[in-house]
Amino acid sequence: MIPYGRQHITDDDIRAVEKILRSDFLTQGPAVPAFEAELCKATGSQYASAVNSATSALHIACLALRLGRGGMLWTAPNTFVASANVALLCGAQVDFVDIDPATRNMSVDALKQKLETSERRPDILMPVHFAGRSCEMAEIADLAKIYGFKIIEDASHAVGGSYRGSPLGRCISSDIAVFSFHPVKIVTTGEGGAALTNDPELDDRLKVLRTHGVTRDPRLMETTNAAPWEYDQLELGLNYRMADIAAALGTSQMSRLESYVARRKELAGRYNSAFEASGFGDQLGLPPLDDLEIHQSAWHLYTVEVPARVNKRRLFEALREAGVGVNVHYQPVHLQPYYRRLNFSEGDFPNAEEYYRRALTLPLHPQVTEEEQDKVVNLLLEQL
Ligand SMILES: Cc1ncc(COP(=O)(O)O)c(C=O)c1O
Repeated sequence: MIPYGRQHITDDDIRAVEKILRSDFLTQGPAVPAFEAELCKATGSQYASAVNSATSALHIACLALRLGRGGMLWTAPNTFVASANVALLCGAQVDFVDIDPATRNMSVDALKQKLETSERRPDILMPVHFAGRSCEMAEIADLAKIYGFKIIEDASHAVGGSYRGSPLGRCISSDIAVFSFHPVKIVTTGEGGAALTNDPELDDRLKVLRTHGVTRDPRLMETTNAAPWEYDQLELGLNYRMADIAAALGTSQMSRLESYVARRKELAGRYNSAFEASGFGDQLGLPPLDDLEIHQSAWHLYTVEVPARVNKRRLFEALREAGVGVNVHYQPVHLQPYYRRLNFSEGDFPNAEEYYRRALTLPLHPQVTEEEQDKVVNLLLEQL
């Protein structure tokens, strides 16, 4: 099976992890701050907090921005359930903004319209950079100034991408940006995520929240003249810490970030060229390629939209049977049984629903060979 995504592990990665296994600290040692420093270097962001998943990072990002009971978060329906779930975990409500069919990202026009017409506007907006391509953050940040909401970028797909010349995760137009390091993502720590910010107070809160709400930092402690063994619990936090084993893998992987993204981009361009050359390009709904001025995707996913006349389920099964690990990203979150019970229903976000009916993710990761890619293209074209 040619998987749609998978990790790439080198001998250097193995040596980096082995070094930690032979060291004094499997967790709470120096490898996590070293990984965080790598993330800051790669993005230009001031602060990074590494945690055990992007879901955890999104959760503490919401808590750090004081989302709670009575609060409201808006995100896009074309995402993994975690983007919306974290708001509910804070006791807040969730609503969605439909996508732009051309980019599969949150539509700025739909956002504008919803802001103008809604009685309950969001406290936090969570745009999701689908497949690693940035949302239109400059326009979104302008709306944030008018309507006073905070922004958490769900950049789970997007480490290594850039927008208007700045690396994604730099938080130029947001309060916090979150990466995922799950094995199918651009770089991996096994499980893992990070929350990046340029705001020192938010960074303090993120770091306290990821470790039980507890701190030994004298700058933050309320206990004066604390004994050397004392710590203060300042918040109701969680244990979302990343282990040093994972962080060391992440630092080693980050040394190849640029080459990984370059190879993904090359393969995505090759897919588009092959489909266009076949004459089926128009029917397939190909993803937009990078435009150098504004959008450079991290190319986490390569997703086509199959023509309405094609039975997607049959196509999916035929490709799987032929050894192509196709997948579908995403079932619209609002149509999940849990969200239907919160009163969302079919027709609420028609662009995300129509996109989902046709979406098919093809294999894209740095180890896909050109022969494998040609096989995927030919097998898909045979089924059209
Ligand atoms: C857009 C998006 N947000 C959040 C997550 C959650 O990431 P993690 O698996 O690291 O918790 C994912 C994971 O697939 C995702 O794709």
